[in-house]
Amino acid sequence: MYHHALRMAIIYAITNQKGGVGKTTTAVNVSAFLAAAGKRVLLLDMDPQANASSSLGINRDKVEVSSYDVILGDASAARAVLRNHKLNLSIIPAVSALAAAEIELVGQLNRERMLQNALAGELPKYDYVIIDCPPSLGLLTINALTASSGVIIPVQCEYLALEGLTLLNRTVHLVRQRLNPALEIRGLIMTMYDSRTALAQQVVAEVEKFFVGKVFATRVPRSVRLSEAPSYGQPIMTYAPNSSGSVAYSNITKNIIEQDSMKEAPTENQ
Ligand SMILES: Nc1ncnc2c1ncn2[C@@H]1O[C@H](COP(=O)(O)OP(=O)(O)OP(=O)(O)O)[C@@H](O)[C@H]1O
Ligand SMILES: [Mg+2]
Repeated sequence: MYHHALRMAIIYAITNQKGGVGKTTTAVNVSAFLAAAGKRVLLLDMDPQANASSSLGINRDKVEVSSYDVILGDASAARAVLRNHKLNLSIIPAVSALAAAEIELVGQLNRERMLQNALAGELPKYDYVIIDCPPSLGLLTINALTASSGVIIPVQCEYLALEGLTLLNRTVHLVRQRLNPALEIRGLIMTMYDSRTALAQQVVAEVEKFFVGKVFATRVPRSVRLSEAPSYGQPIMTYAPNSSGSVAYSNITKNIIEQDSMKEAPTENQ
């Protein structure tokens, strides 16, 4: 049908400048569940650590075309795509050289829009593009935010979690003002949640008060299975489908699909 051909991918940047909060875990597992739900998904690794790529078994020494080439405009996004047939997932991998792009981008005209421009031709091919961001608010992350429909923010349930979130919130507002008016905070995901500790509940309450209505009801529990899966090159969906972490990411993904389909419904006849 005509309107289907015109529909563009929804792009979510998985962002938090704080390290080790569950960005990559969220990007990989939400992507896998979206793909399992029949969505056409591109997982874009924008972190020089390349953890999302290696989590899915991609050997970075064998990567020929990566997000580094794509963001600098040296290769088309289409050329960089690798296919994981088992997961029905497309991936643009990262390499450590991507760290240099942070500096190389500075001299570029339109340096904040390089990724947006590079992705434009790919968007009709996908329902979702999920971008795994590095733990910083540098140009790689700004490029991701400029290209995105929304930001998904994993928050680790620990002391001072809110401190970094105010800076991230301000950055999102700035990008909205100057570069991408459509950028929304799509949702916050509480990660490594331990219901037994008062601290975890306190952190959730604080974050919910600051980001009213934006925190996903499903929290991702601390789960050894989630931390093991990457070393097997698998998402939790195939590595330990019945584990608590798998159930959590499955629920969060269902929620994302449901909310997105409600948003899209009114524009369907255009
Ligand atoms: N819910 C969880 N339970 C247990 N371990 C987890 C959970 N989520 C993530 N981890 C583990 O915590 C570590 C950090 O997670 P992850 O790599 O997803 O964070 P990140 O925000 O992407 O980190 P970075 O900022 O370095 O990119 C990893 O070893 C991961 O396997
Ligand atoms: Mg990461």
